[in-house]
Amino acid sequence: MSIIADDDNFKKARVEKNPVIKAETIEFDKNFENCIRPKTFDSYIGQSALKETLKISIAAAKKRELPLDHLLFYGPPGLGKTTLAGVIAEQMGVDIKITSAPALERPRDIIGILMSLKGGEILFIDEIHRLNKVAEEILYPAMEDFVLDMTTGKSQTVKTLRIPLPKFTLIGATTKAGELSGPLRDRFGIIHRLEFYTEDELARVITRTAGILDIEITEEGAYAIAKRSRGTPRIANRLVKRVADFALVKHDGKITETIANESLDILKIDNFGLDNTDRSLLKLIIEKYDGGPVGIETIAAAIGEDVRTIEDVCEPYLLQAGLLQRTPRGRKVSPETYRHLGYKNIKTIDQQNLF
Ligand SMILES: Nc1ncnc2c1ncn2[C@@H]1O[C@H](COP(=O)(O)OP(=O)(O)OP(=O)(O)O)[C@@H](O)[C@H]1O
Ligand SMILES: [Mg+2]
Repeated sequence: MSIIADDDNFKKARVEKNPVIKAETIEFDKNFENCIRPKTFDSYIGQSALKETLKISIAAAKKRELPLDHLLFYGPPGLGKTTLAGVIAEQMGVDIKITSAPALERPRDIIGILMSLKGGEILFIDEIHRLNKVAEEILYPAMEDFVLDMTTGKSQTVKTLRIPLPKFTLIGATTKAGELSGPLRDRFGIIHRLEFYTEDELARVITRTAGILDIEITEEGAYAIAKRSRGTPRIANRLVKRVADFALVKHDGKITETIANESLDILKIDNFGLDNTDRSLLKLIIEKYDGGPVGIETIAAAIGEDVRTIEDVCEPYLLQAGLLQRTPRGRKVSPETYRHLGYKNIKTIDQQNLF
């Protein structure tokens, strides 16, 4: 999982230190990200239903000369939530301020950001499910009526002060929509789940990235990488870079199907896109728990990962690929998992089906 974890740690460290970071600052620091991150709807590949909805909402907001409704994007990491927020800002022709819920610990953090917003601007809050109660309550009137309700004084002398705010758009992103409080969720006008990308879409992401980085790649080469990218553009982009290094050092620099497969084998990324962490998780359930069900805490302790990484990063793809199932009694694998990992124990598969 290091591919994603590195990225996340970087982002969290940066955002936690600075409650407000302009999108450009993050992008300037991350040169690679900066040049490959799509800035327009045309270069933002896939998610077509969502893009169509957004284009209409943006056109309507522009016609009314009002900011866009508040938006909530949810879905597994690396599917393009932050990227899409940037595309929307670009399309609306407004600035975007980026922060993350863990950076909004004290009331003054969120108040400071809200008061710094200019009319029409976008406030992007990442990991919004981690917002604390106080920050949430400050946000409610800000989202609904564009006001800040501040209380001053103590007990009998307490007074509420209403401070008007410019009209702004809040874009929230989360990998865990289920953990968002009901009242907060209800205040978003548009709520949308980002889907995993198809192989065709990922091959387009890969070809586009290779083009920007001046890497030669065949169509088959792009599909070979796409197949092992777990439906995720961030992973696809990381793999293009790794495979390009391999192609350059071991061959003539061009990525072909054979070279892509060879280097991905060396990186121990299998043809389902699973890496060592995924495989040890699945093997543990098979070998130590007879296919499951087994609790997530037990799995995490046994493979030395934290529960959140497993839930947020490993599981969404394993669930959707049908290699893992969630039951009230814990996680279990499917017959497909046995087959994929090369187990021949048909008896265990039969027992599995009895659950
Ligand atoms: N639709 C897309 N088309 C092309 N590239 C994309 C697309 N979506 C994402 N990417 C690429 O994938 C990378 C990861 O996307 P992004 O950072 O927006 O994901 P995220 O959903 O915000 O992830 P996280 O939940 O970890 O914050 C970006 O750098 C971008 O280059
Ligand atoms: Mg993001």
